Amino acid sequence: MAKKTLPIRDVFSSKFGVIAAAAGSAVGLGNIWKFPYIAGVYGGAAFLFVYLGFIALIGLPVMLSEFTIGRKSRSNVFGAFKNLAPGSPWKLVGMLGVAAAAMILAFYGVVAGWSIDYVVKAVSGNFAAKSPGELESMFTNFIETPLTPILYQIFFMILTMGIVIIGVKDGIEKYAKFLMPILIVIIIILNIRAVTLEGAAEGLRFLFYPDFSKLTADGVLSALGHAFFSLSLGMGTLVTYGSYIGDDNNLAVTAVQVTIADTLIAILAGIAIFPAVFAFGIEPSSGPGLVFITLPNVFQQMPGGYFFSILFFLLLTVAALTSSISILEVVVAYFREELKIKRNLSTVLATVLIGIIGVFCSLSMGMLKEYTTFGLNFFDLLDWISANLLLPLGGLFISLFVGWYLGRKKIEAELAKGAGVVSWLLSVFIFLVKFIAPGAIAIVFLHGLGFFNFG
Ligand code: PFF
Repeated sequence: MAKKTLPIRDVFSSKFGVIAAAAGSAVGLGNIWKFPYIAGVYGGAAFLFVYLGFIALIGLPVMLSEFTIGRKSRSNVFGAFKNLAPGSPWKLVGMLGVAAAAMILAFYGVVAGWSIDYVVKAVSGNFAAKSPGELESMFTNFIETPLTPILYQIFFMILTMGIVIIGVKDGIEKYAKFLMPILIVIIIILNIRAVTLEGAAEGLRFLFYPDFSKLTADGVLSALGHAFFSLSLGMGTLVTYGSYIGDDNNLAVTAVQVTIADTLIAILAGIAIFPAVFAFGIEPSSGPGLVFITLPNVFQQMPGGYFFSILFFLLLTVAALTSSISILEVVVAYFREELKIKRNLSTVLATVLIGIIGVFCSLSMGMLKEYTTFGLNFFDLLDWISANLLLPLGGLFISLFVGWYLGRKKIEAELAKGAGVVSWLLSVFIFLVKFIAPGAIAIVFLHGLGFFNFG
């Protein structure tokens, strides 16, 4: 059946579908696994406040830029730059995005696999009566085992593939519409549990009462980097999703809604975690193990902990899944449109390719631990290259492209679809993408490369 306006391209079928898919991409391991532990490391509320500033001033304009590029070009991220800036090297930015997507999904799938394993562990009551030391070695032994984490990673990649292969409307959109409300219900239940624990107030104070003396320069830069990761920016995920957004959608409103949803879920994840951590007298700054080591310890002491531990790791898995489908779609859309491979085959190819890279990420936690580059194992190397290099670089180019290359007229025409454009807001947006966002991103990027160090 031919569609009315865009015969060969998929389009999301409803406004709720657009928000569910884009918020589903943004809300992920970044919000529930990463945000609480970096906020913990950098002093809680002070980090949160800086993070919120970056979200508003840089994240939101870059997100709107990605949506604009996507819908205007109606193309995958490589094709988008090729269409809008024909014959120029801008398309390399798209290439960078596809590469970043493959790298991120490779290690993302590994962590998502861990969360599935922890759902299983939670269901089988594996956390009960274990000492903190035992919980720690349970986690480290698990991630160092060669086979089991890979099986869970492959299982997760197959789930992701299964949704993407169906397509944009019937796969990605439908599952996001189904999974996102579940995610919200679970996080609200966990919040109610956390704030009603005795001693919860201290955790809330940690999260909302800023002590700026704890905020290092490194913390400020991490806040910016995390804003990118958390909002799914810098590699064309939201260019790709933007290309499926119908012309009757107001892109600015959508970007604001997605940004608010992502930020709210990160804060809710903090509210679910810190009161519980403080109530049981545990250090909040325990790093990446916060979710897999500290929380099981909290759960096993908490009334109803068995039930809440299952819910928590289910939440983590669902959040990871709606993000991983968006990352896979970046590569699939590229394979389909640029290499002219059918969706089915594109999806299988991309999944196998990324899955294989992921297997090496998983093995680099144990068996291949000794093979390091710049002192980093393969998992950490991919994480480092993508988060510190490719996302900031992509974000920088995306904001420069919209601010300096597209220009006011074209931006205005795109944003006016499905909306009225308020002139001063448009000016604010253009100012942010022309100067503020690229300037700030350049600082993070150079810091990531070690050209200078504030800390
Ligand atoms: N935003 C996702 C999260 O917070 O877990 C991760 C992510 C998805 C990063 C898509 C980048 C991306 F393009």
